[in-house]
Amino acid sequence: MEGTILALGSVNADFQMRVEHPIGDAEMAMAHDMRRLGGGKAANVAFLARMLGHPAQVFGRVGDDDLAAQALAPLREVGVDVSGITAAAGIPTGVALCLVPPSGKKRIVLATNANDAWSDEAATGSWRRIAATPRPAVLVVNCEVPAAIVAGAVAAAQGSGIPVVLDPSFAGRVDGGLLARVDAITPNESEARTLLRGLGDEADGSPEDVARRLAARGPRIVCVKLGDGGCLLLHEDRPIRIPPIEVEVVDTTGAGDAFTGALAAALLEGEPPEQAARFAAAASSLAVTAYGSQPSYRPRAAIEAHLRAQGAESGR
Ligand code: RIB
Repeated sequence: MEGTILALGSVNADFQMRVEHPIGDAEMAMAHDMRRLGGGKAANVAFLARMLGHPAQVFGRVGDDDLAAQALAPLREVGVDVSGITAAAGIPTGVALCLVPPSGKKRIVLATNANDAWSDEAATGSWRRIAATPRPAVLVVNCEVPAAIVAGAVAAAQGSGIPVVLDPSFAGRVDGGLLARVDAITPNESEARTLLRGLGDEADGSPEDVARRLAARGPRIVCVKLGDGGCLLLHEDRPIRIPPIEVEVVDTTGAGDAFTGALAAALLEGEPPEQAARFAAAASSLAVTAYGSQPSYRPRAAIEAHLRAQGAESGR
């Protein structure tokens, strides 16, 4: 399929486990069903892009430890280009503890580790390669790596006419000027409010109010992912509520990355924002039906069938 998805951001070793109760402020909790998986938001986006048939390349950092293999092996298996993931000497690979209670609503503790250890060479090398990527391409960035690395990548993409989708997680790390330079932004509701607060803006009101304030800062497409699995899309001043697709929730880990990756892929394919957001919501809702991030991602045919089934049900 024509067009490349570039993803710059976190590459992690995920330790996925089930807990019997949300952990809250408990000092200790028992867990079971522990799996060692590949994770990290950039890695997840690229993995999903491969499921959708696009060439995908990740720019990120791992450590020079055995956890790097855990993070990289699944990417290699599905054919993600990992040559832009470089190793930081003497620093561990990023580790995410993903705790999944019976509700499926995960909580993640992330040690960013190598994600925050970029040499000048690694940074400029990534920016150069992003700038040199033939179009069509879309760059997806997240903020689990330093703001300066994200800013350089966005500038490189912009200079080469490559559109950028921003997943503003961690929201507290987003550089204020970035919003004016990205095409689309995909926060969840709480990230959207944190982001606005951090920018000194009003953070109250409905998801539509929040989306409008974000759009006023630059992005032409704002998708606020809602807690029920749907999203509020704002494009050209027109709000559209994309409803959730009813599914049985097993584990929400990585569902947001599925949304962002699928949105980027659909925009790359030339879909209008509304269709792209519907496709993204379907990819995301399928991703909550299985355990873990990458193992829960489904191929294009499954997502399209899911979307068709929902359309038939709602009479669209
Ligand atoms: O969004 C899920 C991802 O967040 C996990 O894979 C974890 O590594 C963290 O980056």
